[in-house]
Amino acid sequence: MLVSVLGSALLYAVIANALQNGVGKLPALGYNTWNAYHCDINETVVLESAKLMVSLGLKDAGYEYVNIDDCYAEHNRSSTGELLADHIRFAHGMKNLTDQIHTLGLKTGIYSDSGWFTCGGFPGSFEHELQDATTFQDWGFDYLKFDNCNIPFDDIIRQGMLGKYTRMADALAQLAKSSGQPPFLFSLCQWGWEQVWLWGSTLGHSWRVTGDIAPDWDSLAFIINFNSFITQATDFYGHNDMDMLQLGNGGLTFDEAKSHFTAWALMKSPLLIGTNLSAITPDILEILTNKEILAINQDPVIGKSISPFRWGLNPDWTSNSSFPAQFYSGPSENGTVFMLLNTLNEPADMFFNLTESPWIRAGRQYSVRDLWSHTNNGTAVRNFTATNVPAHGVVALLLKDAGDEPAGIFPPCAVWDNCAYENGTAAN
Ligand SMILES: *[C@@H]1O[C@H](CO)[C@@H](O)[C@H](O)[C@H]1NC(C)=O
Ligand SMILES: *[C@@H]1O[C@H](CO)[C@@H](O)[C@H](O)[C@H]1NC(C)=O
Ligand SMILES: *[C@@H]1O[C@H](CO)[C@@H](O)[C@H](O)[C@H]1NC(C)=O
Ligand SMILES: *[C@@H]1O[C@H](CO)[C@@H](O)[C@H](O)[C@H]1NC(C)=O
Ligand SMILES: *[C@@H]1O[C@H](CO)[C@@H](O)[C@H](O)[C@H]1NC(C)=O
Ligand SMILES: *[C@@H]1O[C@H](CO)[C@@H](O)[C@H](O)[C@H]1NC(C)=O
Ligand SMILES: *[C@@H]1O[C@H](CO)[C@@H](O)[C@H](O)[C@H]1NC(C)=O
Ligand SMILES: *[C@@H]1O[C@H](CO)[C@@H](O)[C@H](O)[C@H]1NC(C)=O
Ligand SMILES: *[C@@H]1O[C@H](CO)[C@@H](O)[C@H](O)[C@H]1NC(C)=O
Ligand SMILES: *[C@@H]1O[C@H](CO)[C@@H](O)[C@H](O)[C@H]1NC(C)=O
Repeated sequence: MLVSVLGSALLYAVIANALQNGVGKLPALGYNTWNAYHCDINETVVLESAKLMVSLGLKDAGYEYVNIDDCYAEHNRSSTGELLADHIRFAHGMKNLTDQIHTLGLKTGIYSDSGWFTCGGFPGSFEHELQDATTFQDWGFDYLKFDNCNIPFDDIIRQGMLGKYTRMADALAQLAKSSGQPPFLFSLCQWGWEQVWLWGSTLGHSWRVTGDIAPDWDSLAFIINFNSFITQATDFYGHNDMDMLQLGNGGLTFDEAKSHFTAWALMKSPLLIGTNLSAITPDILEILTNKEILAINQDPVIGKSISPFRWGLNPDWTSNSSFPAQFYSGPSENGTVFMLLNTLNEPADMFFNLTESPWIRAGRQYSVRDLWSHTNNGTAVRNFTATNVPAHGVVALLLKDAGDEPAGIFPPCAVWDNCAYENGTAAN
């Protein structure tokens, strides 16, 4: 038993090392055309978006990728099987476009599919993996999102989700080796949670945990609830992808937009802006450039996600797509991060005892930093209450150890029921 456990752990370590390519340690930050434009894309809109990433200060805030989603290709491959860029919408060719994006100091991503066709019905990469990877590299791309539509019948593919996505992961690794160029950042769009059983597989940078996001609270609540049960699967090099950001696309209140950004960032999802940047409003821009929240998403020392420590409204471990867990915490290089999510349709006071979070030390007090108001909010002893949190609103806090709590606090243990005197007599 011991031998086989050890054996599989070693085997896993070997696999992980073989797949880990050094790219994508931190969640990707960038832009993707899909949520704002769907199939209505062309070189103008992509390049304009790239320029706006710079002029709006998003590049300076750390967003580095400008990614093209589905519908950029001709419906037919070339006579030698190569993918072709749509000759009208990308009239100057992909290399011309990616050169211009690189000149702006940004990186750029492209899209394909693990099956016969993409979700939009354009050629997929099944049985063309290395050829397409080579095309994407020749076109100058740095990042590949790989979708899950139109997959071959079982008697052809004879692979599970891991094997299906390994085909392209292998092609990208082979290409990096043969060309000597940096490996693509590989973003799996497989709409599921299989990766949880693969111990946070390092097959790619990220994997999608659900189907597509919509710009409304129901969709956010659904994704947050789902992801709250698999937060342990995220760490450096392998991220739960909660899907591209919808803030700025209507359908969300300002507080909901803040909750969206906070949950995605602190759960260490890639953050790909999906709005029409020509029409972006200052309040949405302010959310997207919240430096303190972005810093936690991009923590270079701690890769872990926040996780729920109490569900709040519902009993702990309740899965409820409309009313997810409300109290979350996690470690960061500067202290313990808390997210309080008011899932109610009305404002609420939100209280927690500090030691409900496993990252907090008993008997210590903590300075409180509010990551949205950007203020220091005093010192918390034993507990903290956020008052009047708006409906569907969020509070994000960073608690830093500020030394021993004052002497003589009663009860002598925060979790009084479990304590005992040194002579063994129970305290309560
Ligand atoms: C490019 O796409 C944008 C957004 O869909 C559209 O407004 C514009 O007219 C298109 N430009 C060309 C030259 O097709
Ligand atoms: C394009 O591909 C389709 C099948 O996907 C085929 O029917 C059609 O003849 C091809 N067109 C050209 C111009 O090769
Ligand atoms: C892109 O194409 C345009 C039009 O042909 C040309 O003026 C420009 O120099 C090209 N840019 C790059 C970076 O290739
Ligand atoms: C993007 O926003 C600009 C400026 O408001 C507007 O002119 C354009 O039509 C929008 N594009 C789309 C595809 O909504
Ligand atoms: C930690 O604090 C330093 C100094 O304020 C800051 O530069 C860094 O971004 C913070 N890291 C995180 C993960 O918040
Ligand atoms: C979700 O939680 C709310 C609030 O407790 C409850 O009213 C509702 O019945 C729950 N829904 C499901 C599907 O459990
Ligand atoms: C919060 O902690 C303080 C000690 O700092 C204590 O006096 C107060 O009763 C606690 N509040 C609750 C609701 O437990
Ligand atoms: C922290 O203090 C600021 C400034 O007083 C305030 O606006 C904010 O609501 C406080 N945050 C919390 C969670 O109480
Ligand atoms: C917070 O701590 C107080 C005092 O120990 C205790 O009575 C209360 O039940 C705790 N609340 C939660 C939500 O843990
Ligand atoms: C243990 O110590 C406590 C506190 O000093 C005391 O009240 C209690 O009587 C002691 N119990 C025994 C069995 O000596």
